[in-house]
Amino acid sequence: MLKGKHIILGITGGIAAYKSVSLLRLLIKAGAEVQVVITPSGKEFITPVTLSALSGKPVVSEFFTANTGEWHSHVDLGLWADAMIIAPATASTIGKMANGVADNMLVTTYLSAKSQVFVAPAMDLDMMAHPSTVANIERLRSYGNIIIEPTSGELASHLTGKGRMEEPEEIVKVIDRYFEAQCSMAGKRVLITAGPTYERLDPVRFIGNYSSGKMGYALAEEAARRGAKVTLVSGPVALKAVHPNIEVIAVESAVEMRDKCVACFADVDMAILSAAVADYAPVEVQERKIKREHDDVPVIKLKKNPDIAATLGGLKRAGQQLIGFALETDNEKANAIEKLRRKNLDKIVLNSLRDAGAGFGTDTNKVTVIDVAGKEVALPLMSKADVAVAIIDMLNV
Ligand code: CTP
Repeated sequence: MLKGKHIILGITGGIAAYKSVSLLRLLIKAGAEVQVVITPSGKEFITPVTLSALSGKPVVSEFFTANTGEWHSHVDLGLWADAMIIAPATASTIGKMANGVADNMLVTTYLSAKSQVFVAPAMDLDMMAHPSTVANIERLRSYGNIIIEPTSGELASHLTGKGRMEEPEEIVKVIDRYFEAQCSMAGKRVLITAGPTYERLDPVRFIGNYSSGKMGYALAEEAARRGAKVTLVSGPVALKAVHPNIEVIAVESAVEMRDKCVACFADVDMAILSAAVADYAPVEVQERKIKREHDDVPVIKLKKNPDIAATLGGLKRAGQQLIGFALETDNEKANAIEKLRRKNLDKIVLNSLRDAGAGFGTDTNKVTVIDVAGKEVALPLMSKADVAVAIIDMLNV
């Protein structure tokens, strides 16, 4: 997959820079065209001569070539690249990238890059575990960068712990898989629902639930990363979609969510319904705030909301896939299978609130995917991003 791809290899000043030479060789061997951008301190660890000889291109480090005044355009580089990999990424460079401190060629190139960016941190275990590093890495993740986690082992300090840059062979595999995945859903259209719905009671109150939308947003990012055009119909959440292939349609109530989903369902190849849709809504929405000075406690009468999954299940045509979620507290499998049938789904993703780390608000999830033929795949506790990868891998594309 790397043949002919334009890759920027960013090298920063850490001991692991010696591994960047192997990484560069592997990328070149796989047929990629590689432009090395190195920070000034990176040059203390590895010489530009070695890197330019291996890449067949002059190494870029400064904004200008000193004797000629030739400008090295980080903007052009950013546009040229199909991917950028920063390996090793030191705590300092990670901090600059996370906060837009553009004081060297590498960080300006990063800020100009339009392509996927991979970051392979390498540092001492205590630096790695410091809250500022952890927060900066989380920030990079939120920008859509792919973090290639360091491994644990003996470090340059002779201490043992997490902080070793991932091996070059593994980094190449991650980049290769990215390019492979990137085209696996090209041309596909996907509808995803996410988050809670809010059912209005009066101008200041609603009936809602604890859904954060994290699972649905992770699914949307993963499908978009693979080349799909995603319509994300989202209830009120505190999240932002990152990938440009995601169109977010913000809704509040179940009825609004149903209307938006029905309007685009005919145009999509598949729909993944991860929203926690409120089953009931107040019969009456009060125009004015319900006041406290009542003799009686107000009674809120509820009516049934539409079942979006069942509605789409009824509209589903041959070739379309419909994937639902089931969040259960008891009798989990039987309930999930009953929902799969009743809503005419192709697959249902079951999470049990009895499992620690699964369900609402968490960054992790533990799910079992059940299909119409009764086949079950139980996944271990994973990050919601990894669960999204596993679920999308199970789709027929
Ligand atoms: N769902 C939906 N519309 C609803 C309720 C649920 O589209 N009004 C979808 C959810 O997005 C999920 C699946 O149906 O994909 C199952 O949701 P869940 O809340 O577990 O099921 P319910 O049908 O609401 O059943 P119950 O609340 O009785 O468990």
